[in-house]
Amino acid sequence: MKYMNFFDVVDTRRSVRRFTQTPVPDEVIRKALAAALKAPNSSNLQCWEFYWVKSPAKKAELVEACLSQGAARTANHLIVAVSRLDTWRRNRDLLIEDMQKTGPVPKFVQNYYLKLIPFLYAQDALGILAMIKCLAFNAIGLFKPMLRRPVSKADLFEVVTKSAALACENFMLAIAAQGFGSCPMEGFDEKRLQRILNLNRKCHVVMVIGVGDIDAAGIFGPQYRVDSKLVVHEV
Ligand SMILES: Cc1cc2nc3c(=O)[nH]c(=O)nc-3n(C[C@H](O)[C@H](O)[C@H](O)COP(=O)(O)O)c2cc1C
Repeated sequence: MKYMNFFDVVDTRRSVRRFTQTPVPDEVIRKALAAALKAPNSSNLQCWEFYWVKSPAKKAELVEACLSQGAARTANHLIVAVSRLDTWRRNRDLLIEDMQKTGPVPKFVQNYYLKLIPFLYAQDALGILAMIKCLAFNAIGLFKPMLRRPVSKADLFEVVTKSAALACENFMLAIAAQGFGSCPMEGFDEKRLQRILNLNRKCHVVMVIGVGDIDAAGIFGPQYRVDSKLVVHEV
């Protein structure tokens, strides 16, 4: 397969709300998922998961949970990107195990993963730890630059969701590079999605991505962006 250059990929990727019936080979999705997993992510803890929903019954439920919008209804493949608060410890241990293969893990790396990360990620039901962390960070921050977040569960969800969103962009660009279309969706019923995929309360559905062969009518007009002067600041 011949791939486009990077800027052509960026220019051709659009949100496609309707796909044709032409199937997208599984290999295209596999390649895009592999690209997703190479995205930069916070502390390399990879607190994400991608559910490629293949069962026709589950797919039908998923379309309904996506409010039956065209991008889901006509998609040949549906991928659900999830960020998780409950996989960092497992992934941290795997990461350290991998580092150990090439020699002893430096002390500062050990401190980072075995002390700082658990301190930042630890949560209790009442949010007391978050308050203590917040007070400590703000007190130290009076005297020197200091990390202020994450302290709360919401902060942590933001951390893992940022990384998952970057992976989604890699995924969608990889789909575009292979000549197919995608549409990210946040218009869904998260509770129903969690039930369909058996996700617990430490999971957040970041987006559902529909993938298919582009129907020209599924691209709603030329791409619009506000003037870059409004959003790009050279300071
Ligand atoms: C997080 C996120 C959620 C989105 N949710 C939806 C959605 O539920 N339905 C939809 O049709 N488009 C959705 N979009 C697509 C945006 O509307 C689209 O990216 C935007 O209009 C810009 O168009 P472009 O992607 O073609 O450049 C979403 C995009 C993002 C990044």
